[in-house]
Order: sequence, then C-alpha cells, then structure tokens
Amino acid sequence: KQFKVAVVGATGAVGETMLAILAERKFPASEVVALASERSAGGYVQFGNDEIMVRDLATFDPAGVDIALFSAGGSISKEYAPKYAAAGAVVIDNSSAFRYDDDVPLVVSEVNPEQVKNRPRGIIANPNCSTMQMLVALGPIHRKVGIERINVATYQSVSGAGRSGLEELGKQTAALLNFQEIQPERFQAQIAFNLIPHIDDFLDNGFTKEEMKLVWETRKILGDDSIQVNPTAVRVPVFYGHSEAVNVETREKITADEVRALLQTAPGVEVVDERKPGGYPTPVSHASGRDPVFVGRIRDDISHPRGVNLWIVADNIRKGAALNAVQVAELVAAEG
Ligand code: A2P
Repeated sequence: KQFKVAVVGATGAVGETMLAILAERKFPASEVVALASERSAGGYVQFGNDEIMVRDLATFDPAGVDIALFSAGGSISKEYAPKYAAAGAVVIDNSSAFRYDDDVPLVVSEVNPEQVKNRPRGIIANPNCSTMQMLVALGPIHRKVGIERINVATYQSVSGAGRSGLEELGKQTAALLNFQEIQPERFQAQIAFNLIPHIDDFLDNGFTKEEMKLVWETRKILGDDSIQVNPTAVRVPVFYGHSEAVNVETREKITADEVRALLQTAPGVEVVDERKPGGYPTPVSHASGRDPVFVGRIRDDISHPRGVNLWIVADNIRKGAALNAVQVAELVAAEG
C-alpha cells in the first residue's frame, strides 16, 4: 500500500528534515504534500531530488490524507490535528499539544513501539527532543534493572528553537566578531559565546516547562510513574545536536561495564566510549546530521552504590524530532 502523506510546517527546521528523511528512507508515499502558512504558500521545498510546492494549511483540504506529520507549533496542532484525524488521517504530532493526554500515545520507536496502536483519537505524539534521546539510551537499562531516579543536565542546541534560533546564533556570532552590538530577540539573553539556563516557560515549582517535560514524558513512555527525574535544561551556542549529562540510580545494581555491553546491542544507540582524547561523542563530531543516539563517558558513580553516569548526544532535529516521527509513520504504515 502507498500512503498520501502531509507534512505540516514543511518550511521549518523539523519539517524540512521530515521531508528529507521520508525521501531518504523511501517511505511508501503515493504523494507528499508540503504545508505551511500563507506566507510560504507558492514557494518550494526540497523532497529528495524534487522540489514540491508549499500549500497553505488554512485552505488545504485534508480529505484523502493517510498520514499527517505536524511540526508547526502547539497552537497549529491544537487547531488542525483534530481536523486531519476527523478526515481520516493518522496524525503524528511533534508539538507538546497532546503529549500528556491519556488517550494519546507518546512513542519513541525503539522504546514503546507497541503504543502506536492505542490511538483512539487518531493522534500519536512525538516526545520532546531531550526526552527522546535520553530514553533511547535509558530504556534498555530500565528494562534490565529498573530505574529509580534520573539526574540530568541538558546542553541543548539552538535548532531546538526552530529556524529563528539557528539564525539568531549565526547573526549574533558574526556581529560580535565584528565588534557590533547585539540585541537578544529569539532567546532570553545573548546566546553567542554564552549559555542560558532557561528553555520554555517557568512553572510554579521553579522548574521550566522544558525541564518538566523530561519528568512527565519519561514516566509516560516507560509506563512507570514511580521514576524520579531531576532535570536542568540549558541552551548552548551549538547549531545542531543536544547533549545530556545523565546520572541514573537503578533499582538493582548494574556496573558501567554492564551498561556499556547492554547499550552496544541496543537499537538506535551507538556507543563511543574510549578513555582518550576524542573518544566520546560531541554534537559536531558525531551527532549532527546523523541518526543514532551516541553514548559515551559511561562510568560508575563514585558517590552512590547503584549509580551510573552517561553522556548522551543526538541530533535533536533528526532522532529528537523528524526521524522518530517518520519511524512512527513506518510503524503505522506497517499495519497496512
Ligand atoms: P512558515 O515558514 O510559513 O511560517 P520553525 O519551528 O523552524 O520556526 O518552523 C515552524 C513551521 O511552522 C514553519 O514551517 C512555519 O511555516 C509553520 N507555521 C507557523 N505558523 C503557521 C501557520 N499559522 N500556519 C501554518 N504553518 C505555520
């Protein structure tokens, strides 16, 4: 069977990568429709070797669309995803609009693919980029010995904030190197040559929403509300690729050597863990533009008998967003 696929937000950082990955992986598509705002309608985006015309989401008729990949922000998803589902499409939504609804599955393709089928509303949510890469690596550990608690600090690239985030880091860097003044626009403070411990809105408990996504989504995806997560999310001046310093406390003891061996055969994971210069993943040297979640710096926690440390790096636009959405679409397509 061939599917009619719509990509909503096709001109964005994630949308353009969804199109690239659909072409790369030869998704069984009879037709691919690129949708964005009225501003971009009539322009063209790349789909494999072809250029396809962008259409206006507001006026496009969803009838006949089999699978719709949404990445145009939460408010667009809230308004249009139910309309696409009502028209018969399976919606895979990259925004946070539906992630915490009980009747919407939240799926990491390597971790809980079986949840794809539990979609009474015809909507499947794609996790937040930071949760995604963390759980590709921690899922196997949880299944083997149980995870009690996760301490995580993230180092998140500007592409997570979309195209305007990429532009702001580029412009500020160029301006500052030319001794010009800069004015923060997209980010809350200067991002070039700096870092910002603030992503998404502050909540009443003092954590940011980006941090709480790691708590809520980890529990939902692993299906275990007893898992404790203590996150700090930081924006760093990197274009592509999120990194995470993770400390895990497990229920049963597992050594760093056992974790390394476990992750060497885990789907979607590539272990890069040599104790020498360059023997660990970085966003630029390993993750940017690549599919796997890279794990290095695996070592026993010297302060806790059941603790292990890991350094987890992945391309936030690919595995963190577009790739997982396409992998979920492949699971849907495999249903026939
Ligand atoms: P457009 O380029 O027409 O504004 P990013 O996250 O990289 O900023 O991308 C956001 C994506 O969401 C873009 O493709 C953008 O299209 C799309 N988008 C934003 N607002 C709307 C809207 N009102 N209707 C449809 N698409 C929208």
